Amino acid sequence: MGMDLQLAGTHVLVTGASKGIGLAIVGAFRAEGASVIASARRSTPELEATGATFVAADLAGADGPRRLVEAALSIAPRIDVLVNNAGGGELADGILEDPFNGGPDAWAGAFALNLGAAVETTRAALPALVEAGGAVVNISSDSARRPWTTPLPYSAAKAALNAFSRALAERVAASGVRVNVVSPSATRTPMLVGEDGYGAKVATSMGVDLDTFVTSMPKQNGMLTDTLIDPAEIARAVLLLASPAMPSAIGANWAVDAGATKFA
Ligand SMILES: NC(=O)c1ccc[n+]([C@@H]2O[C@H](COP(=O)([O-])OP(=O)(O)OC[C@H]3O[C@@H](n4cnc5c(N)ncnc54)[C@H](OP(=O)(O)O)[C@@H]3O)[C@@H](O)[C@H]2O)c1
Repeated sequence: MGMDLQLAGTHVLVTGASKGIGLAIVGAFRAEGASVIASARRSTPELEATGATFVAADLAGADGPRRLVEAALSIAPRIDVLVNNAGGGELADGILEDPFNGGPDAWAGAFALNLGAAVETTRAALPALVEAGGAVVNISSDSARRPWTTPLPYSAAKAALNAFSRALAERVAASGVRVNVVSPSATRTPMLVGEDGYGAKVATSMGVDLDTFVTSMPKQNGMLTDTLIDPAEIARAVLLLASPAMPSAIGANWAVDAGATKFA
């Protein structure tokens, strides 16, 4: 018999679920027999095909996270797992060349989506998570530990997400809630390979076409493979950390980055 992750019949809330890594996470939980509430600003046919229940929310907005959790709890009897995956966001012009380009709005926007959404969604869901003895998994980035490799507002917000997650793990462990992080490196998602995604903008700023940029990405990141990571791989790490079969996974930050992080 295979490994039983004990996720069948659990209730899971996934943000940023309409495409990319979030969509893969939804599919993986569904395959284990979990009920999933999936959120993004807009749904997609791919998300609809998973059988998850969609709830629209803008998590960078002040009230978005609270309303999302209220809607989730009006649909599901409890929340066993919260996956804070929504992230990325708009790239201010010239931000790669100079972290001060784009003004304060660029920093506020990056922090609202990449830190604030996880903080506020967790705040709203925590009573339910405590009741369920549940788990939180936050999706960070390898760039949090190499902050010079991506736009600084983004990598600084992900570094703050790491700090938040580690401290929260300490704070809520006694109430039976486990908090962990998965940190991917370059992963094959619309954010990286989409025609109007982050990758396309970086490619333009470097004066190369998107294909050339995507092909050069693994080496540039110091990844020890020559391909982008499959979102399904990130999803597997999330499921393991969320699983009740892993009661000692607390405060971990799992790199799934093909060796991009160059320290022990
Ligand atoms: N791809 C990579 O190489 C990579 C590497 C390291 C870390 N990550 C992290 O992995 C996570 C997922 O990234 P991805 O590559 O899968 O990105 P993606 O393909 O761009 O998907 C992002 C998801 O977040 C949602 N979203 C964006 N802005 C939102 C907002 N304001 N409110 C609510 N939902 C919002 C999007 O849906 P809507 O636009 O409809 O709202 C979408 O479902 C992010 O946290 C990212 O930082 C990605």
